[in-house]
Amino acid sequence: MVDSKKFWDRMAPKYAESPMRSVKDYEHTLAITKSYLAPDMRVLELGCGTGTTALSLAPLVGQYIGTDQSGEMIRIAREKAEEAGLSNLSFLALSAQESTQRDERFDVVMGFNLFHLTPDPEGLMRDIFALLAPGGLMISKTPCLADRAFGWKRFLVRAILPLLKRIGKAPQVGLWRIADVDRLIDGAGFETVEAGNWPAISRYVVARKLE
Ligand SMILES: C[S@@+](CC[C@H](N)C(=O)[O-])C[C@H]1O[C@@H](n2cnc3c(N)ncnc32)[C@H](O)[C@@H]1O
Repeated sequence: MVDSKKFWDRMAPKYAESPMRSVKDYEHTLAITKSYLAPDMRVLELGCGTGTTALSLAPLVGQYIGTDQSGEMIRIAREKAEEAGLSNLSFLALSAQESTQRDERFDVVMGFNLFHLTPDPEGLMRDIFALLAPGGLMISKTPCLADRAFGWKRFLVRAILPLLKRIGKAPQVGLWRIADVDRLIDGAGFETVEAGNWPAISRYVVARKLE
């Protein structure tokens, strides 16, 4: 089986340079996410990759911590943060599981294009719930490669993924439907305040831990 950390370490330089798939969808995600942020908030972004989202959101909040299991992703993220000179932004090389075991409280915990890659999403979502302050928000976006919205390509992914994993060209990936994401978030005790699909196979959710 592919070691997820090694896989993403190897991918990091290419990931940093590859153009965004859909700038329009990404900007829509950023705009909605920004509307939930405020200057006094402490934010944790899990699986932050090379920090592109963190750099854009950190100026809107009090403190922003980005974590990723890949030391290479974090190295690149730190370089970008240093250039941007944002004093409230820091990056740590930690898995999502390790990040949620911290003895701290956050107002917002985010994970973009992450949860379907983690080994125990249910346990992770429960830990995120526990980490949030009362009234805190969980914001996520998750590709749903097994959803009908992906059309015939979902069958191709199902057929080809085991081969790609065997030759080290794909990480561990959960093949989810949009309903699976909603069940995961509801199951941890959150109340969904906003959700949508853009592109059609990607589920965006803002969910609140009730006070
Ligand atoms: C598809 S990239 C997404 C990066 C970024 N969030 C984005 O949307 O551009 C997935 C990222 O999740 C990280 N990742 C995968 N599994 C993880 C885990 N269990 N804990 C922390 N990070 C993880 C990878 O190292 C990689 O940087």
